[in-house]
Amino acid sequence: MLAYRHAFHAGNHADVLKHVVLVQVLRYLVGKDKPFRYIDTHAGAGGYLLKGAQAQKKAEYREGINRLWSRPDLPEAVADYVRLVQEFNLEPGEDGVVPPLEKGMTPPLALYPGSPSIARMLMPRTDAMRLFELHPSDARTLAAHFGGNRHVQVLNEDGFAGLKGQIPPTPRRAAVLIDPSYELVGDYGKVVATLREAVTRFAEGVYMVWYPQVSRVEAVQLPKRLMALAPKGWLHVRMTVSQADQRGFGLTGSGMFIINPPYTLHQTLAEVMPFLVEALAQFDGAAFVIEEQPA
Ligand SMILES: C[S@@+](CC[C@H](N)C(=O)[O-])C[C@H]1O[C@@H](n2cnc3c(N)ncnc32)[C@H](O)[C@@H]1O
Repeated sequence: MLAYRHAFHAGNHADVLKHVVLVQVLRYLVGKDKPFRYIDTHAGAGGYLLKGAQAQKKAEYREGINRLWSRPDLPEAVADYVRLVQEFNLEPGEDGVVPPLEKGMTPPLALYPGSPSIARMLMPRTDAMRLFELHPSDARTLAAHFGGNRHVQVLNEDGFAGLKGQIPPTPRRAAVLIDPSYELVGDYGKVVATLREAVTRFAEGVYMVWYPQVSRVEAVQLPKRLMALAPKGWLHVRMTVSQADQRGFGLTGSGMFIINPPYTLHQTLAEVMPFLVEALAQFDGAAFVIEEQPA
């Protein structure tokens, strides 16, 4: 049985990096005005109560989204992401419709959207979404979020195994987020094997892999193993915000590895990462890396 629940970590520094990248990639794809399929192999619950017992346990969002929430000086790509999270926090009116976010208005931070909700906010409602989530209760919550939209399928199945059945889509455009919990050390190898098969089947897909910066050999080696899968056409960004604890444990940062990134992504991240590192740093050595091998 899976023990990992994303509610304990929602809105932390790793979600910030992952979701800033996700927003930029999806904005680019939506801008092309052709339908595409969004596939989330590890979708989570879709939304999280930050005042709930799980999120409050370590209140990780305080060192993540909370540090950006009311800052007036956000770079555009970060402001774009924060606005989406703010919209997710708006209460529906009496007519059940969520009002638009008014300029200069900052709602209280009570909810954090998962990746499927962020994708939903950006994508046309008729574009297809395939959301894999193995945990039965998170899969139920996710299905409740997306109930009634026939373009969205919530699959309470293994996303590693399920991805190949979803690609290539028709038409041949898709963005895939692979965001495991790495609760099981075997996840590192599964990411590599899943991606190897995926790029063989559907080379032109846009693939985003999140990974943790922890003191495990598998985590340290993962970016290099991913680079070997796609010798050209990848971008890697990593952000370190804290130090390991005295025993050498802890999530000190995280990375995103993107295959077939938008050509605009490198420049956007070059503008954004110095700001994010400064805003989210928990020690003096906070830093980032951006590497790219263009197609
Ligand atoms: C890091 S969380 C996902 C967070 C989400 N992508 C987001 O950004 O909001 C990882 C999720 O994967 C689920 N999970 C673990 N193993 C899985 C598998 N083999 N297939 C699908 N989901 C899995 C966990 O239950 C957990 O909800």
